[in-house]
Amino acid sequence: MPSAYYAALDQPLTSSDDDEEEDIERHQQQHRQRQQRRPKGAAPRIPFLATHSLPPPMALLRGSSGVVGSRRRCLRTAGLFGGALIFLIALCYFTLNTDTRLALGLGGGGGGATDDSDEGIHLGKHSQSLGLSRFRELARQRQTIPAFDGQDLPKFASKNRKDSSIRNPYRSYGILSRALNESLHLCSEGHLDQRLYVQDKPVAQYGHLPIIYFVTPTYPRREQIPELTRLAHTLLHVPRLHWLVANDQEGCNTFMDGMLKRFGIPYTHLASPMPSNFRKVKPAPRGVANRRAALQWLRQRNLTDGVLYFGDDDNTYDLGLFSEIRQTQRVSMFPVGFIADYGVSGPVVRKGKVVAFLDSWLAGRRWPVDMAGFAVNLEYMAQFPNVNMPYKPGFEEDRFLRSIGLRLDLIEPRGKNCSQILVWHTQTKSKKAAVVRLESEYLDGRSNLGALFRSLKIMGVASASDTEGPKALISKNGKASDHATILS
Ligand code: UGA
Ligand code: MN
Repeated sequence: MPSAYYAALDQPLTSSDDDEEEDIERHQQQHRQRQQRRPKGAAPRIPFLATHSLPPPMALLRGSSGVVGSRRRCLRTAGLFGGALIFLIALCYFTLNTDTRLALGLGGGGGGATDDSDEGIHLGKHSQSLGLSRFRELARQRQTIPAFDGQDLPKFASKNRKDSSIRNPYRSYGILSRALNESLHLCSEGHLDQRLYVQDKPVAQYGHLPIIYFVTPTYPRREQIPELTRLAHTLLHVPRLHWLVANDQEGCNTFMDGMLKRFGIPYTHLASPMPSNFRKVKPAPRGVANRRAALQWLRQRNLTDGVLYFGDDDNTYDLGLFSEIRQTQRVSMFPVGFIADYGVSGPVVRKGKVVAFLDSWLAGRRWPVDMAGFAVNLEYMAQFPNVNMPYKPGFEEDRFLRSIGLRLDLIEPRGKNCSQILVWHTQTKSKKAAVVRLESEYLDGRSNLGALFRSLKIMGVASASDTEGPKALISKNGKASDHATILS
């Protein structure tokens, strides 16, 4: 990302909350109102029970005002008993350690999780099994993962901020790990490896290797097809790879279907457009809808064997990267060249262990790494049903890695203990697609130019127009002539 992009991400926040945060606030406010409405002298509601909407036991007992004395005494004794019982249960609950509580299906809250624990993730999982409401799940996540508190919501920087019709999408989509529930548009796929040889060995000889699921978000622009072509020619040298190409576009690009098929690499082509309201904001969450779609695709197929890697369409990949990431047991990491101000981002390794990170844009991220700087084992990832990548520019990597319960001691440093660069964050100079004035009457079968411009248009590179753009000049014998003279 360019420095200006980082600067934009660092801007102070102007929008305060998202939906989930609002839900939590609303719920808390309702609770306070209920407390205020409580009749004088009535027992305070016990918060734990209040979330279940059950009347607290003491309030129930006090409600029986017209009953005879002995019955009242009896109830009072029962009340005392009940209170003691609740106290005892609470005592047991808090003395059990988190793992035991989780194992018993009691949830893990209240244990005072530290910032480095993955408890928040387990909580989400187990609170679901307890059938608790989404509010409680989110409230708990908020308690245990401090940075999810909405303080670092992306700045809403619509070009036209006075236009009230443009609602801050970060409000409507929420960032608190909105569950992955993408509707998948599968354009085409090919599961057979059509290559005969890879790196001078018959493809069949690689059968024992775990598959690398190489997820490439891509989007329509002038450079898209050349980028994918270049990337394909790297991937053609990689055995046992499934290329998941997720295109940020509403419909399926049939040209891309044909192109992917022709390469012969096992592939899946998804159409995964960015939600329209994100397109109007800067910075936009680039490649997020695509990666979410790919995560959903992996999950729907229950794929637990192999390695996931997020490989953007414009990066440069050393073939050494693939043999390194293929060994990933849980999460492996390695430096990425050309990132931001230091020209690199990656782990700091001491005595063979990752101890910290070098990155010029920290922004409070626990995992300040680039998307291309890690790989994840699918069996490991499958343990985390709440896997997620929120629409939060600049924080996608961090939040994704949090959602899979990453801990420092789980990270496997790759590339000679993170001393090699095996992937480069190269960026292509972007330009608008060209328009050339070349009248349609000349784009028929009399020359190659008709077919050429039709294909350039399909690829989004250039188009011919009857009325717009600089007039197409054609030269012969070093002399430029009007195209009409040559093409007529
Ligand atoms: C850097 C990281 O390398 C990305 O992995 C990360 O997603 C991105 O920053 C970010 O946080 O925004 P960078 O070169 O700055 O990448 O961004 P791009 O290469 O423009 O976009 C990342 C990926 O998303 C690319 O594969 C691109 O094709 C795709 N993308 C981009 C879309 O699918 N839609 C878009 O509108 C823009
Ligand atoms: Mn890029």
